[in-house]
Amino acid sequence: MQLLSVTLFGGIFWNYWECHNYSNNKLKQGRIMNFTFSEEQILIKETARKFAVDELQNNAGERDEKQEFPTEEVKKLAELGFMGMMVPEEYNGAGLDTISYVLAMEEISRVDASVGVIMSVNNSLVTWGINEYGNDEQKEKYLKPLASGELLGCFALSEPEAGSDATNQKTTAVRDGDYYILNGTKNWITNGYNADVALVMATTDKTKGAKGISAFIVEKDYPGYLIGKKENKLGIRSSDTVSIAFEDCKVPAANLIGEEGFGFKFAMRTLDGGRIGIAAQALGIAQASLDASIKYSKERKAFGEYISEHQAIQFKLADMATNIQAARLLTLNAAFVKDQVNSFTKQAAMAKLFASKIAVEAALEAIQIHGGYGYIKEYNVERYLRDSKITEIYEGTSEIQRIVIARHLLKD
Ligand code: CAA
Repeated sequence: MQLLSVTLFGGIFWNYWECHNYSNNKLKQGRIMNFTFSEEQILIKETARKFAVDELQNNAGERDEKQEFPTEEVKKLAELGFMGMMVPEEYNGAGLDTISYVLAMEEISRVDASVGVIMSVNNSLVTWGINEYGNDEQKEKYLKPLASGELLGCFALSEPEAGSDATNQKTTAVRDGDYYILNGTKNWITNGYNADVALVMATTDKTKGAKGISAFIVEKDYPGYLIGKKENKLGIRSSDTVSIAFEDCKVPAANLIGEEGFGFKFAMRTLDGGRIGIAAQALGIAQASLDASIKYSKERKAFGEYISEHQAIQFKLADMATNIQAARLLTLNAAFVKDQVNSFTKQAAMAKLFASKIAVEAALEAIQIHGGYGYIKEYNVERYLRDSKITEIYEGTSEIQRIVIARHLLKD
């Protein structure tokens, strides 16, 4: 049983009562936890909002149109500590919790979801993954520059025949002395064109299925690391997406993360956190759709009055706002559970499933409210719709999230 009660103190304060049978004792006892956003968390949210409005808003549409990577903007984001938010300070990170990360992700994505995904991949997949499972040398060499924003990372799991079916890895890594030789192709790699470092999953033992997959840190300058052309996408167009081919790419054995065979679990654990980031991205897009709809409905007149006076519009706004608040609570819940206990797979899947669904719905409603104006690029809502759709696809489709949730329900 889970009870979640909300005290609206400007959205800052909420009580949380978890009675799940977690391994963590505090939660096992099912005690009530009062959760208040700290001053630091509020500051993070405000800083992200200000940055997004001041630095991203003006050119988000143009970057989207031109598929232009926000190089300077990402540098500034890094200066704020937003490229390694959950990395400890000793490794050049901001040392923040997942709640802070979610708050920042929502605000950045509310203005520019492309910047949101660039930030999300570097934070929740790349730096979180190395911090959690890398060794001291790997943290020193890669985590520090990735967390400070000196380097950018990408996460290479998907392949032409391994999207949802992620265990079907065809990329191979064969040990050769102090190196592994990688061969294969990775698809749909966000940040892949600009990334300096990739976390690559590859099969080291074909006979073992998921347990024969290993994870490697691979530098883009290693010979045999070949970056494909940028994909021409429907949405999140100023983030880049490419395929990466490995042709006898020689990777030092020291760059293996954990042990041989740990790669699939590494990818799944890391993606659990990634899904919280994408839920927050979806939330940002949904909130932007609502913001735009409220503004427009107070400016546009029809039948002699502002359309905000029409009940048909009011019902849409009310449904959007209610869905957004529910998605926000699910996302904060997932972040909270991640910060408290080791097991947050189900909560992350629920947050992503719901937030991505309501983001697409909110963007569609925003277009409907804007009428013909919603269908042209002068207004941002058509971008919100294009950006929202991918949140139902990447880091595990909605169908995969349902599988993950159902498996947990049946196992618990
Ligand atoms: N945490 C830890 N271990 C996990 C895990 C998790 N969340 N999920 C699965 N595992 C473990 C299982 O316990 C199992 O290990 P054991 O045999 O020791 O028990 C092993 O991994 C294999 O798991 P399954 O048997 O469940 O594997 P499956 O073939 O049924 O697949 C799946 C499971 C959930 C469908 C998985 O393949 C999946 O999540 N697919 C979607 C992949 C995905 O999200 N891709 C996104 C690409 S990255 C991206 O999009 C980034 C970007 O660019 C923005």
